[in-house]
Amino acid sequence: MKVTLPFIFIIALIAIGCNKKQNQKMNEASAITIDAEKHRPLYHFTPAKKWMNDPNGMVFYEGTYHLFYQHYPDNTVWGPMHWGHATSKDLVNWEHQPIALYPDSLGYIFSGGAVADIKNTSGLGTNENPPLVAFFTYHDPVGAENGSDTFQTQGLAYSLDNGKSWIKYENNPVISNPGIRDFRDPNVFWHEASQKWILLLAAQDKIMFYQSENLINWEFTSEFGENSGSHGGVWECPDLFSLPHPKNPDEMVWVLLVSINPGGPNGGSVTQYFLGDFDGKSFKNQFPKEKTLWLDYGTDNYAGVTWSDIPKEDGRRIFIGWMSNWDYANVVPTKSWRSAMTVPRKLELKSGKEHILLTNEPVKELEQLRSASTDIESGVLEANRTLQTNNPLCELHLQIDLGESTAKKIGIKLSNDKSEKIIAAYHVENQNYFIDRTGSGKHTFSDKFSGIHTAPRLVDNNIIELQVLVDVASIEFFADEGRTVLTDIFFPTEPFNKIELFTEGGSAKIIKGKSYTLSPSIIQ
Ligand code: FRU
Repeated sequence: MKVTLPFIFIIALIAIGCNKKQNQKMNEASAITIDAEKHRPLYHFTPAKKWMNDPNGMVFYEGTYHLFYQHYPDNTVWGPMHWGHATSKDLVNWEHQPIALYPDSLGYIFSGGAVADIKNTSGLGTNENPPLVAFFTYHDPVGAENGSDTFQTQGLAYSLDNGKSWIKYENNPVISNPGIRDFRDPNVFWHEASQKWILLLAAQDKIMFYQSENLINWEFTSEFGENSGSHGGVWECPDLFSLPHPKNPDEMVWVLLVSINPGGPNGGSVTQYFLGDFDGKSFKNQFPKEKTLWLDYGTDNYAGVTWSDIPKEDGRRIFIGWMSNWDYANVVPTKSWRSAMTVPRKLELKSGKEHILLTNEPVKELEQLRSASTDIESGVLEANRTLQTNNPLCELHLQIDLGESTAKKIGIKLSNDKSEKIIAAYHVENQNYFIDRTGSGKHTFSDKFSGIHTAPRLVDNNIIELQVLVDVASIEFFADEGRTVLTDIFFPTEPFNKIELFTEGGSAKIIKGKSYTLSPSIIQ
């Protein structure tokens, strides 16, 4: 099988005059041996074939970003879980690697994390060749079927060849189940202050914390979650790390990510977060207990976690999420594979209207995908203005002065010749952002797919700042420098070949803007 980029896209690139870099990319892209269906994203990570869900084991080691993922290599629906594997040098172009972990007699290999055990505290490697150590949940399908409460346990595997091959620890599991049906998704990190490894996992709708000196023997220390955050569904895939306070960079604030399914503000699977303190044993939420904070208000960013061991000189916390939703992930209209990841995003803390917020924005490495650019001049926008035709890949930056705008809705519209469309915009009166995918094409595969997804504006000024990334089957909408984010997927019957600035019910005052056509990334 060979990639054939959508015809329309090739025409577009010729029309705008490909530069040398693009030509090179096109040539390289045509060597990809994956099947390109029309909804196969062109710069988001997808598995070469069959099923994918959560990102797993994300670790940066010796100049390489490792991305493992929940994978069922025999079908395009969820099934016995393996860890698929891909690597990247730049978070944009990816290389598929052989499957890293297969199910065994203890069960399927569910989600988890990985770390570089540089000091060989586990003794699983040597000081000269320290191990990469991965933690995952063993899910015993027979126990689950028989009504046992202890069918999920935590396993360990290690690699002595930079993540190429993995050896399962001989005395697995390293954490057995205390009698909790949902007991999964371990995430591990080194806690400098207590000089201990910390493992956290999701247990029903709580998070349990453990500590260890050697990554093998774990001691339970505390539990978090009661009366905090949202409890509309089961808690999954936690992650814990610290980031500098926006007003006082010397003060570190601990961020706890917790995915929850169902219970999202716009339905189904979603990721909430908590901001507070962690002393090596327990996490203290420093926000009003009744308040839930959402990392992304769209319906398609779930189970996201961050890379371990990114060097201090880089200093970023980089996140990737699974760009789907358990409400319909198994039935979306793709044939040879299912699901994509979001673009990698940098997480930061920034000030908000009422309190600090966790923001997420595309990593700067994605700028290498930019090709032709168009400046959007300042001025009054009275009607829709076409930004791009015949190329569905786009990045848009836009600043709008609300104080001088009379419009009721201002944003971006994607459409095709079949009158299918997506609108992603700000609703002035409601003071919220929204993505309307009610007319976006195929939707009958699930009655939970079609809809308008809304998200509050979380700052108090008149200048709206937008960054929008569009691929053939997704839109990622970052408002106010990542303070409000919406990620949605879509399945038009033909590519969205027209991208417009959109205004309804009045005019919009554009301060400035720029749009870029994007070229595909290389995934081989
Ligand atoms: C989240 C999740 C995890 C689990 C995995 C199974 O999407 O349900 O809790 O480990 O998927 O594939």
